[in-house]
Amino acid sequence: MPYKDMRDFLAHLRKDGQLKDINIPLKAGRDTNDLQALMRHLAETDGPALILNNLTDYNTPDIPVIFNPFGTRERTAMTIGERDPLEMKKKHARVLADQSLWHEPVIVERDAAPCKEVVIDEADIALDKQLPHVWFGEEGSSFICGGVVTTRDPETGERNVGWYRLTQFWNARHGTGGDYSEKRQTRQLSIFAFWNPPMSHIGLHLAKAQAMGKPLEIAIACQCDPAIHLAACTSVPFGQDEFAYAGGLRGEAIELVKCDTVDLEVPASAEFVIEGVFQPNVEQEIIGWHSNTVGYYDKVQLFPVLDVTRITHRKNPLWYATIEMLPPFDHNYLAIIPIEGELLADLQRKIPEVRDVVVTPNLTYIVQLTVDGQRKPHAEFGKYVLHAVWGASGRWGRTAKWVIVVGPDVDPYDLTSVEWALQTRVQPYSDTIINKSGQAMVLDPSAPKGDQGFAVVGEQIGIDATIKIPERFDDYAPVSKPDPAHVDKIAELLKDALL
Ligand SMILES: Cc1cc2nc3c(=O)[nH]c(=O)nc-3n(C[C@H](O)[C@H](O)[C@H](O)COP(=O)(O)O)c2cc1C
Repeated sequence: MPYKDMRDFLAHLRKDGQLKDINIPLKAGRDTNDLQALMRHLAETDGPALILNNLTDYNTPDIPVIFNPFGTRERTAMTIGERDPLEMKKKHARVLADQSLWHEPVIVERDAAPCKEVVIDEADIALDKQLPHVWFGEEGSSFICGGVVTTRDPETGERNVGWYRLTQFWNARHGTGGDYSEKRQTRQLSIFAFWNPPMSHIGLHLAKAQAMGKPLEIAIACQCDPAIHLAACTSVPFGQDEFAYAGGLRGEAIELVKCDTVDLEVPASAEFVIEGVFQPNVEQEIIGWHSNTVGYYDKVQLFPVLDVTRITHRKNPLWYATIEMLPPFDHNYLAIIPIEGELLADLQRKIPEVRDVVVTPNLTYIVQLTVDGQRKPHAEFGKYVLHAVWGASGRWGRTAKWVIVVGPDVDPYDLTSVEWALQTRVQPYSDTIINKSGQAMVLDPSAPKGDQGFAVVGEQIGIDATIKIPERFDDYAPVSKPDPAHVDKIAELLKDALL
């Protein structure tokens, strides 16, 4: 049964005892840090989702803030009606690989669209009053983190949907000590669209529009049904529709409504919709500090600026605020599932011997096979799989910096088990591939940065931790370990004595 919208998901969490209201005052202003501390506490204790009703130092006190909704693996699985993380990953990959399971979105009239209840015309836009601003840690700006972002390919008209962060300039600390103009602070936003060179699909759209000297329209739908968010943060192949994939994930078509000032459609049940446009010869702005997903502050980056042309929202809207930081954090698991699902779907299409892909919060990629040793289809099979990871479709495989391929008796969720395979099945020179010119994960602080302030090219290492039969041996030492059923039996037998 799909959720209607974000509220429906929250109601479900509440019924399940996983959502609490917080009325204790907490500071949300610039240079305060209650919220990053709260996020760390919740992450360390597998804490519940929250609705923050009493933020202080906050420009829109009537708008409650959703906090930590995706903070555990279980809640992440619940976004598409599962509870078990592995089942969720399999569903994500299964639906991604099979378009017959997708549902084309349907268009509804604006009267049936809650996101149109309140309309703010371009002439009345004042972002400092109309959009919530919430600060975390040492961040210079308040970022919009709940945006499902839609643009159209300027050549083909095909839609892209992605979950990208936006920067708000109001009251922001400038990354190099300058000032943001009045116009920036009240009528413009910037988006983390890595476009020059393009490293995301919105980046490709913007790069094309710029080359053609055309504007690029954009719509940002904030706080939707979480299945839509999950689809938006999945790198669905370029040109295919994330909204149709979202329909597949939730088992029912999503409802879209036409935007007012741009030729785009957005989920009708969003809490907020921001419409806008990038001009030809797009302006860029310095952004920083921004706390990133690999656990560091990016001091200065350059990102494109858009003009806001309309805001619509529900009558009593909800906002969502989150931060990326030293993992784990809220939405860590939600962001990892698409990486795992994308890669699993792609690899399994080509290599049936791939059983699972596990990506750790620090982005080490572990591929587990169903075969090892003499059951491998051919010599150097592990290295073949390493190359397939770097050549996989989607955004992430090509940026995998550390990739480890293991056999079926190694538990990819248990780093001790993976380390055992590294120690006992790998010769570091013969069983690794070092790629000196791979594609960097844009936020890797150890890779050289391009002009826009993000990493483009980086080095990669793949480790074949399978058993080297037939490459090096025709026999391998047997593993010394008890049968798990026997362990359980002995534990049961001695349970009172061991108390
Ligand atoms: C909360 C959240 C924020 C994200 N912010 C960004 C971002 O600002 N820029 C970006 O390139 N990717 C971001 N991502 C990852 C993208 O959503 C993901 O790579 C997605 O596949 C991008 O869509 P695309 O493949 O159509 O470009 C974010 C993911 C999450 C969960």
